[in-house]
Amino acid sequence: MLSYPLLDVRVTTPRLELRAATDQLLDQLAELVRAGRTEADPPPYDDPMSFYETDPDLRVAKWLRAIWRRRGTVEPDLWRLNFVVVVDGRPVGEQSLIGVHFAALGTVTTFSWLSADERGRGLGREMREAILHLAFDGLGAKEAGSDAFVDNQGSNAVSRRLGYQPNGYDWGTRRGEPAQLNRWRLTRAAWQPRRREDIELHNVEACHALLPLT
Ligand SMILES: CC(C)(COP(=O)(O)OP(=O)(O)OC[C@H]1O[C@@H](n2cnc3c(N)ncnc32)[C@H](O)[C@@H]1OP(=O)(O)O)[C@@H](O)C(=O)NCCC(=O)NCCS
Repeated sequence: MLSYPLLDVRVTTPRLELRAATDQLLDQLAELVRAGRTEADPPPYDDPMSFYETDPDLRVAKWLRAIWRRRGTVEPDLWRLNFVVVVDGRPVGEQSLIGVHFAALGTVTTFSWLSADERGRGLGREMREAILHLAFDGLGAKEAGSDAFVDNQGSNAVSRRLGYQPNGYDWGTRRGEPAQLNRWRLTRAAWQPRRREDIELHNVEACHALLPLT
């Protein structure tokens, strides 16, 4: 067992695995970050975002620092679990679950990216379903939110397809330019009938022991 059990949490589906982002896995995933496989057009990430850094080594360094900061922030109103998406033993992307006022409200949001070579084959939807299973089934979340720039067709399509309802608009900047975001939300009641029976949670008790969930 690892000395920090949150790094032992896993979610498995028939197509992929979400493995807690250990430094060893991040080291493997860093090759994709260094190679710029995180990019998309139009730009999908809101500022500040390490992936917009043009120098590859600095990009990896900024990305890792952001992950380490988030790993060390565990408060009743903010915590984040970072996972590496693994397909057939290959790290192909990142999926995070963020508890925002979870102890008081049971609300989460999610963030993800897939290597450009792996998009458009249903993996994005599968990894969102996996992380929602952890949130609702494993942690007892009440509501999941998701934001995406209005021209991010992939992310908006995943939210729509999984039963999220439109929850208004917001504004953010990307590469310093203002752009509109769609806000989405999925309630526990709307997720329940879509709950999948073929997704498995491993070592989820670490979350109950180490996250301030109540
Ligand atoms: C967002 C992302 C994770 C989605 O993963 P994906 O594997 O490409 O998506 P999927 O193949 O599971 O597709 C899910 C749905 O999106 C649609 N879709 C995906 N990419 C699309 C595109 N470029 N244009 C139109 N529709 C698209 C699919 O048709 C599918 O719709 P359906 O369920 O109604 O058939 C991935 O595209 C990605 O990494 N994008 C860059 C990073 C990013 O945008 N992250 C989110 C920041 S908020």
